[in-house]
Amino acid sequence: MEHNQTEASGAIPGAGANPSSATLNQDIGQGRGVFISTYGCQMNVNDTERMYSLLEMANFTPVQTAEEASVIIINACSIREKPVHKVYSEVGTYRKMKEKNPDLRIGVGGCVGQQEKENLIKKQPMIDFVFGTDTIDNLPNLVAQVYENDKARVVNAKVEHRAPYHVETLVRNPGVSTFVNIAKGCDNFCSFCIVPFTRGREKSRPLSHVLMDVRTLVKRGVKEVTLLGQNVNSYHSECGADFADLLQKVAQETGIERVRYTTSHPKDFNQKLVDVMYANQPKVCEYIHLPFQSGNSRILERMNRGYTREQYLEKIQMIKKAIPNVVLSTDIIVGFPGETEEEFQDTITMVQEVGFETIFAFKYSPRPFTKAAKFEDQVPEDVKTERLNRLFDIHDIMAFDLVKRYEGLTLQVLVEKADSVEGKITGRTPENKLVHFLGSADLIGQTVPVKITKAFPAVLRGELVQ
Ligand code: 5AD
Ligand code: SF4
Repeated sequence: MEHNQTEASGAIPGAGANPSSATLNQDIGQGRGVFISTYGCQMNVNDTERMYSLLEMANFTPVQTAEEASVIIINACSIREKPVHKVYSEVGTYRKMKEKNPDLRIGVGGCVGQQEKENLIKKQPMIDFVFGTDTIDNLPNLVAQVYENDKARVVNAKVEHRAPYHVETLVRNPGVSTFVNIAKGCDNFCSFCIVPFTRGREKSRPLSHVLMDVRTLVKRGVKEVTLLGQNVNSYHSECGADFADLLQKVAQETGIERVRYTTSHPKDFNQKLVDVMYANQPKVCEYIHLPFQSGNSRILERMNRGYTREQYLEKIQMIKKAIPNVVLSTDIIVGFPGETEEEFQDTITMVQEVGFETIFAFKYSPRPFTKAAKFEDQVPEDVKTERLNRLFDIHDIMAFDLVKRYEGLTLQVLVEKADSVEGKITGRTPENKLVHFLGSADLIGQTVPVKITKAFPAVLRGELVQ
């Protein structure tokens, strides 16, 4: 099903504002703080960073709390649950602030802005502006517009379905590890997923731009990048490079110490990529996040995932054969429409058979525009909740056993930060495990050997090997 997207770009009738024609008045940012409240995935966190950077360039000052801000933006993900309700309830909490401070402007962006467009402004008069996922770069103009015309309430949420995707990474303090977008949008139309509607069709960044970004980040002290896209495996640059080519070049031609990527789609995961991962170890981390969503082939077909249970397991075999130490994580949806108890059991056995160290599991949540939301055999909420809890219980026990293998091993830990507790530091292993240990903050940015003394599913504890 293809949703007939209505594209909105313009002002609410009566306000007379048109964001595309605005010329930015740099003085508008002067003395005004901006606070962005973020819900959602890494893509949204990355977008928030981009918003802060752009507004900072326009002389706004990023601040730590909504109370200090003149501009409050809610950047909300709409992939699950009822994000629109969350947005309205957060906006509601700013009511008193808005009454006291006539200079305060409230905006909503991200996937919720994209999905709801002018409905947000119509339903909640406290919202001054709305923007989408493809119009972030116009944000300073949009905010300027809202200040320049007191009554302006502006919506700018046009989706550029096929326009080239040129966005350099904008991050204020990249630290040791950061994310680099390589592609956006998605053409897969899994029947449960809103992303193709909120992020538009899939677009890849030119290979040279990604390499340039990573080199710049390396110069700024970044040691690890995670290449980010909704489906990185279908990356294709205009010069004909695929994702494996890109990964190889990032690993070999940028000076970066570690590379990760997310998210992969099983149907596009191929031997060439596994070979590149193997050839570039340890630089390319032996960790793969490979969502399977359901362990049952009938449900997978209804999800429009493009693979069966058997085909997924074949991919896992291919990966494990080449990279025996690989650590795997996955996303799972329970209670997809029509899922029977037996079909859910297939999901449990899949988790056990593959031996995922980490799972991200969710109750199916009907999303607007999607095919599955219209399926008639929706699973009752209490059944979904019970299945999710059962899955987590089974996985918890399994994960404790799996991580025991780390105890006594010495792992290479890239130190990311000092903890709030004096003398403690935290880093990450190539397997994507967080490790807490005693050490000096001077080690931040260095990769050091740490002997693991205690393993828990989410974190490891260890001692620095001197
Ligand atoms: N309901 C529940 N989970 C969903 N996801 C995506 N859409 C939905 C939905 N409608 C999950 C998938 C995806 C992850 C990012 O979010 O598991 O991989
Ligand atoms: Fe959504 Fe991922 Fe499917 Fe694309 S591949 S439609 S982002 S679940």
